[in-house]
Amino acid sequence: MFFVIPTLLLVKTPILECAKIACLATHCSLRFVNSATDKNKGANYSATLNKKIVPSYIPKMAKTFCLDDYDAIGFDLDNTLATYNLKNLLEMEYNCLAEYLVEEKGYKEEVLMKPFNEKSTDFIQRGLIVDSQRGNLLKLDYSGKIVKVAHGLSFLTPEDIKKTYGEHLTWEVTNEFVKDFLATWNGPLSEKMRTFLDYFDMPASLIFARAVEEIDKQNDGRPVESYTVYNDIVDGFNFMFTPAHFAENKGKFFPLIKQHPDKYYKKCSPHVLEWLKELKAKNKILFVLTGSYIDFANHTATTCLGDDWKQYFDFIGYFSKKPGFFTGVNRPFLRLNNLKEKDEILSTELKSGQCFSQGNWDGLIEAMKKSLNKTDIKPLYIGDNFIQDLYTPSKYTHCDTVAVCEEQSAEGFPTKEHPDSSYLKSNLWDSYFYTSNSSEGKTPTIWSDILKKHCKICVPSISYLASEPINKKYSTFNDEDSNFSTDGFYPTR
Ligand SMILES: *[C@@H]1O[C@H](CO)[C@@H](O)[C@H](O)[C@H]1NC(C)=O
Ligand SMILES: *[C@@H]1O[C@H](CO)[C@@H](O)[C@H](O)[C@H]1NC(C)=O
Ligand SMILES: *[C@@H]1O[C@H](CO)[C@@H](O)[C@H](O)[C@H]1NC(C)=O
Ligand SMILES: *[C@@H]1O[C@H](CO)[C@@H](O)[C@H](O)[C@H]1NC(C)=O
Ligand SMILES: *[C@@H]1O[C@H](CO)[C@@H](O)[C@H](O)[C@H]1NC(C)=O
Repeated sequence: MFFVIPTLLLVKTPILECAKIACLATHCSLRFVNSATDKNKGANYSATLNKKIVPSYIPKMAKTFCLDDYDAIGFDLDNTLATYNLKNLLEMEYNCLAEYLVEEKGYKEEVLMKPFNEKSTDFIQRGLIVDSQRGNLLKLDYSGKIVKVAHGLSFLTPEDIKKTYGEHLTWEVTNEFVKDFLATWNGPLSEKMRTFLDYFDMPASLIFARAVEEIDKQNDGRPVESYTVYNDIVDGFNFMFTPAHFAENKGKFFPLIKQHPDKYYKKCSPHVLEWLKELKAKNKILFVLTGSYIDFANHTATTCLGDDWKQYFDFIGYFSKKPGFFTGVNRPFLRLNNLKEKDEILSTELKSGQCFSQGNWDGLIEAMKKSLNKTDIKPLYIGDNFIQDLYTPSKYTHCDTVAVCEEQSAEGFPTKEHPDSSYLKSNLWDSYFYTSNSSEGKTPTIWSDILKKHCKICVPSISYLASEPINKKYSTFNDEDSNFSTDGFYPTR
């Protein structure tokens, strides 16, 4: 949900459809947005995303990372500070989306309502890319080359991949995507591809594949010219994750999360809360930036961190519409009242201890400088979404990032196995971080490439980071090595 990023939309887009598209675009991020609000409050994705066009990636010189070096430390909420029982969450999302497609879009129950279990979920992996028209799911290597393709539930042979995507194993849409991961966020390219980037949209890949398989079956086993399954899935995401549905108890997803918090959320360990206090005691600014709307974010944070969760943070930004939060310049900050958005507040009025909705990075940085009485501060952001939380702040602002990635422990490196590893790991797609190739070793994926170029280190959880000393020095990713290596991943064996 959340975040789901935005790339969104697959919709065909004649002018008439503009309204729909706008809504999807924001939506994609599920949690995020509601199109009406978006328009009224002036968040114009095409305008704001294009303002700072200076992707300013400077190769990193620092070879070590130390938390203590930062003046301000920010956290994403979902799947970073707040963690979920992923098996239960993924299964529930699968069922909500499948039921929606059966009930509202006429898909066959016997096709979609098949088991979502350890076996069938070997097909899912975070970060798969949808080629919506061809009905394919893709895995890319670090250079943007297409290394695996599934059509329906079947994998294409290397010869068939070449027939579809050419000798170079590339596609013009993903070529733009790898040049700038925000290029396909909206506009025409966003209608052609999108990625399932987090645990809120990941189960949709299995639904997509099962639906495509059935369509081919109905067509005498042959692929059709163009698939519309993805449009229906986007409608399903809107149904599940429209922010207003939390308060209205609609869309299946929010009502279930509200009714059974213990089933879906994990409680944050006391040592993490102690660590937050310790960081704050060192005169660091702590902040949260979440894409979730205020009521849902409060529910999540209260359940995971406790009733007094706000006390740990100097600034709390809800409904922040990443990645636009980092790239857009004049996006307004809104005051809150009773878990709802109210009037605009100038960034110069922001004070430590304040919560706000939406907003923008430059304004937040100014407020933090003022609060610390410093002319320059060094910020860090920690998150799980490779594009919104890691790539965008690193490329479009001067913010360092740390990745929280549960796949790391699910895949068993370095040490402890993840309790839901069978749901996160995929033998069919191979590692989230690399593709094994006997002649060439382990070729990094596009996601590993983001880690190497845009993150200092990768950890399986905040809990791990909190269990280490604040002044610990970690050696960072080494971005020269084109083979996959575990440098930069912690803990080490
Ligand atoms: C959004 O920005 C684009 C590009 O600057 C502009 O053409 C369009 O009119 C804007 N839309 C709104 C609703 O402001
Ligand atoms: C925040 O969420 C908790 C748990 O759902 C709820 O008890 C509390 O009333 C919410 N806070 C506000 C201000 O509504
Ligand atoms: C802020 O820093 C300046 C320069 O270091 C100093 O003169 C001033 O007194 C400080 N203000 C506050 C409120 O601490
Ligand atoms: C390994 O990589 C080489 C060169 O890119 C390629 O020709 C070969 O098909 C790959 N093998 C596998 C098993 O993917
Ligand atoms: C990557 O690893 C393979 C197999 O271990 C090795 O043959 C190859 O030379 C390595 N490539 C680079 C660029 O280090």
